[in-house]
Amino acid sequence: MDDPYDQYPEDTDRRRFVKGVVGAGALTGVVAPAASMIDSLTAPPGAGGGPTDYMGIEKTGGPAPRGMPQIPLEYDDEGNLKGIWPEVEMQQVGGQTVPIAEMELGGKLYSTTWYQYCGSQNNPAIEPDADLDNTIRYTANPAYDWQSNQVEAGDPVRAEHFSDYDGWGNVIGESGIGKPAKVTWRSTELEPRDRIPVQLIRSPLIEEAAKDDEWLEASTVDGFIAIHNQCTHFCCVPGYKDPGQTDAMAYGAGDSIYCQCHQSVYDPFTIIEQDFIALPRSD
Ligand code: FES
Repeated sequence: MDDPYDQYPEDTDRRRFVKGVVGAGALTGVVAPAASMIDSLTAPPGAGGGPTDYMGIEKTGGPAPRGMPQIPLEYDDEGNLKGIWPEVEMQQVGGQTVPIAEMELGGKLYSTTWYQYCGSQNNPAIEPDADLDNTIRYTANPAYDWQSNQVEAGDPVRAEHFSDYDGWGNVIGESGIGKPAKVTWRSTELEPRDRIPVQLIRSPLIEEAAKDDEWLEASTVDGFIAIHNQCTHFCCVPGYKDPGQTDAMAYGAGDSIYCQCHQSVYDPFTIIEQDFIALPRSD
């Protein structure tokens, strides 16, 4: 899934506000510049890309140029976990009128432009005005035994499935750090190739960090954090405590998200503001 157009500048990690979770600092946040800002001289043709600030997990090792973006979460009226998708507005961008989905959230400007890399910019699930199911749902062929045994593909994620999250463990890394699931969002009704890969973790570390962090308080619920799980290097799908990726241990990534394609490592408990050049949608 290499994407020759997906070339990123060095990430800047300009504002770090959860460092190793312990001692998470208060959000000092200045609202990020509009995600819809387009540098028409450098961006490829299309709509809704350009320089973008986003909140994501920190890349801590390997060749990936930057961290992976977060998907903000909330519960719906029935207690199912749901990814937040902003209201859509038509905006003038680079001389075109285009739909933009963005909103203020936790002191930041959350935009669906965050997910426009690795070909996802052309995924129908990422279309700002696509009216799709925002419920977080389990995928088929999960890496985790608990997921195979206790829930079905397509089921909505609920907190009671994770009641043992503060003690859960498997053969990878330490127990009690976070219980994972392989899930998707906005794409269960689409072709399998268009399913959005999401790494979900419920962790006491996130729950604790959200107590004094405006962004995490707004974007996580009950210790649940969701990551758009496409490696920023060459777009592989990494794993967290994936028993099929035992080499994670050799790279010190037993408690991290690990990409076995070229050994990039991401810390899902260090959430920082980062930036990249979002690729424009082909529409
Ligand atoms: S490290 Fe190369 S694709 Fe993930």
